[in-house]
Amino acid sequence: MPGPVQAPPGYTVIARDAVHSTQDEIRALAAEGAADGTVLWAARQLTGRGRLARHWDSPEGNLYVSLLVRTGVDLADAAQLSFITALAVFYALGRHLAGKARLALKWPNDVLLDGAKVAGILLETETGTDGGQPLVMIGVGVNLVSHPADAAYPATDLTSAGCGHLTPAGLLGDYLAAFAEWRQRWQDGGFAPVHEAWLDRAAGLGGPVTARMPGQTLTGRFVTLDERGALVLETETGTRHRVTAGDVFF
Ligand code: BTN
Repeated sequence: MPGPVQAPPGYTVIARDAVHSTQDEIRALAAEGAADGTVLWAARQLTGRGRLARHWDSPEGNLYVSLLVRTGVDLADAAQLSFITALAVFYALGRHLAGKARLALKWPNDVLLDGAKVAGILLETETGTDGGQPLVMIGVGVNLVSHPADAAYPATDLTSAGCGHLTPAGLLGDYLAAFAEWRQRWQDGGFAPVHEAWLDRAAGLGGPVTARMPGQTLTGRFVTLDERGALVLETETGTRHRVTAGDVFF
């Protein structure tokens, strides 16, 4: 069983040893009426999943966690929570790294360490059957002790990068504290402060980018993140495209 976690007020952590996916567990808890701020943390996952239905390697030693948000969110704005989550992971990791410059955020919501992926975020939503608030399930995986060798984008883990002192429990506490703080800032000030903070830490901004989307690949320059969270790509001819889903490569 994973050890005790320091959670901020309003967040309750449930720890499990092995689960198929913390996303499925939190969904089941939500269906049973679990409160906003319920957090499901597992030591390992048997069928962890990533974005675009990919497999997420989940051996013991890394962080696997899903958080339920069910108050104060409109479905149209739910995707903004993935940027809040990326910032929270960035801050949680930054507390433990001497040079924060080693960290960057990669669109849509990966965290890079020395240019390689160290954390991924999976945001899933479900509309309330009673027409009420949507359910938002935010999954985070952070590579603490191991990373996959065959990922689509180069990956790393904290131990390989020389930061092997972090524990899943310690990092989870820091992540939840940072998440609670950024969520509050978002509730008070809308997406603008999140947008600005994310752009300040964005990898590849202003440089060449290739966006691979289902059925289309675009190459150009990464101009900005728009006010709805899309990556704005400008091609050689000056045409701007909003990229809302897919993978980007710098
Ligand atoms: C990605 O980068 O593709 C997102 C990866 C998200 C992985 C986490 S681990 C905890 C939660 N449970 C899952 O099955 N997936 C997410």
